[in-house]
Amino acid sequence: MTTAHTDTSSAGTGHVAIEPSILYFGTPVVLLSTENPDGTFNLAPMSSAWALGRLVVLGLGAGGQTARNLAERPEAVINLPSPGQWRHVERLAPLTGRYPVPEDKPAGCRFEPDKFAASGLLPEPSLAVRPPRVARCPLQLEARVQRVRPDGSGAFVIAEALVERVHAHPDIVVPGTQHVDPDAWSPLVYNFRHYFGLGPERGCSHRSETPRGGGGAPRAGTAGAP
Ligand SMILES: Cc1cc2nc3c(=O)[nH]c(=O)nc-3n(C[C@H](O)[C@H](O)[C@H](O)COP(=O)(O)O)c2cc1C
Repeated sequence: MTTAHTDTSSAGTGHVAIEPSILYFGTPVVLLSTENPDGTFNLAPMSSAWALGRLVVLGLGAGGQTARNLAERPEAVINLPSPGQWRHVERLAPLTGRYPVPEDKPAGCRFEPDKFAASGLLPEPSLAVRPPRVARCPLQLEARVQRVRPDGSGAFVIAEALVERVHAHPDIVVPGTQHVDPDAWSPLVYNFRHYFGLGPERGCSHRSETPRGGGGAPRAGTAGAP
């Protein structure tokens, strides 16, 4: 069935070719906690993170403290903040745990040895790894990095982290199950350097384990919506 939002690009839709300076097209923000060489802990926001089963792939600037920490001490917590926590995330944005501040960091970036205090977020002990969880983040993934390798340019590293434990706030778990409730959970999405939460649901995958209106079908009131 053809709907009103069908992409008719083959017929020409007037797209313009542009050269954007960034391609942050909307990925969830994570707060990565890692261990510094002196046994203290670093906390860094990042949005280049995605999951392959239990493996989470992380893209990191090669010169940052987080990349160094993961190469030397492979434990981490991948904390997922909610949309309401965006100001805490943004407080961490101009900070690095590396001293002296690397030259390739953006202007205004400064060294901060205690990023938890700077963010206003509280640590909570992890169970399987040394870096702490971020207490108020609704989802916390304790993970062990299996591989860190440079990207083709040398500017970034790609880390592969195997998740060992998942902690979820009870409010986002379907009662009596192992499932995160997609209706209750929203990631904080980084969309071309602006922070968003999720809008209303449009439908679900045929593989959803938490369907309400029937797998794959758009829910009432959303049919034909773009
Ligand atoms: C919302 C947000 C998303 C970010 N995403 C990434 C990312 O995916 N990869 C990355 O290397 N840096 C990312 N950054 C920048 C790092 O947080 C920044 O370079 C920070 O200084 C790293 O800290 P560190 O040097 O202590 O590791 C992001 C920053 C913000 C605020």
